[in-house]
Amino acid sequence: MRATFFASMLDSVPPAQIPIVMSLSEQLKKIEVNARNGLAGAADLAALDAWHADYLSKKGSLTEILKGLKDLSPDEKRSTGALANTVREALESAFLARKREISQAEINERLKSETYDALRPRSSHRGHLHPLTQITEELEDLFSFMGFTILDGPEVETDENNFGKLNFSDDHPARDMQDTIWTAQEGVLLRTHTSSVQVRAMQILKPPFRILAPGRCFRYEETDASHENTFNQAEGMMIGENLSVANLIHVMKTFLSSFFEREVTVRLRPGYFPFVEPGFELDIQCLVCGGPGCPVCKHSGWVELLPCGMVHPNVLRQGGLNPEKWNGFAFGLGLSRLVMMRYGIEDIRHFMSGNLRFLEQFPA
Ligand code: DAH
Repeated sequence: MRATFFASMLDSVPPAQIPIVMSLSEQLKKIEVNARNGLAGAADLAALDAWHADYLSKKGSLTEILKGLKDLSPDEKRSTGALANTVREALESAFLARKREISQAEINERLKSETYDALRPRSSHRGHLHPLTQITEELEDLFSFMGFTILDGPEVETDENNFGKLNFSDDHPARDMQDTIWTAQEGVLLRTHTSSVQVRAMQILKPPFRILAPGRCFRYEETDASHENTFNQAEGMMIGENLSVANLIHVMKTFLSSFFEREVTVRLRPGYFPFVEPGFELDIQCLVCGGPGCPVCKHSGWVELLPCGMVHPNVLRQGGLNPEKWNGFAFGLGLSRLVMMRYGIEDIRHFMSGNLRFLEQFPA
């Protein structure tokens, strides 16, 4: 018996026309062919969804056709029903395959236009280290290369380590040289110089040793172009046997020549600091004019660069070292000063100003 095909069914059988009288199996096969063509033509996920609604949904043509099953003989019902299931399953899996294909194509398309390079900075506006941090790292490298150990000391210090053990007696006039910021706790201050790390170094290291201790220091000061209440120093100390001023000069010249990337000429003038004897002010020959005199060196040919000296026997003793056996030298580098000289910065207050227009001139 042939099932009749009702014209109303045509509405839901896109896109090709189906002949008026066909067996259900023929109709199923026809639908499968149309569906497969439609699937191949579906270009995106939206078209795919529409296709699914047309063919496989409850109201889709496959379901509609199967309503005709009830008019068939039991045998035909069985075979046509089986065919219908096969077609449905085949179309479902074709649908899923096509969906995967389209999704993948869409992803590929997006990947083409939306490349992401994890190594490329997202904006051209890059941050960088503060110039004082940069110079600290540079000094650490230079001095490590010369066999110095880099030491860190606390910014909050005891009176003992900042003054007492550095040979400043209680009523020593030199204490007035530095205006100290005291904490609420008696005998505790913000270190006024990194020389306090000398004391700590002698306590924790076995001689001979060489150390460099960079860090922030604080003074209660009126600020101006060359004074700041917070500034950066690096303390150097070398302890050994039979060290002399010649060793001090050699280390300083080696460091300064690498730092300024040219041969530098140095001279020592007497200077007074309670923790060194003799104490010096080390000058370098002006790097701008090379000696004859210019505005940078105030026409003297020399620029005062760093204080230094041979460690005072009292300081060695306070640090637990026998001055009969051990001696050495120490020096204090003003880091802000070095950066200012290198870049011709005229005002020390720029460093702590947080002014990006200043800082951005020193990309790492
Ligand atoms: N601590 C001194 C200051 O801040 C600088 C100094 C002078 C350090 C002489 C030294 C030195 O190591 O030997 O003014």
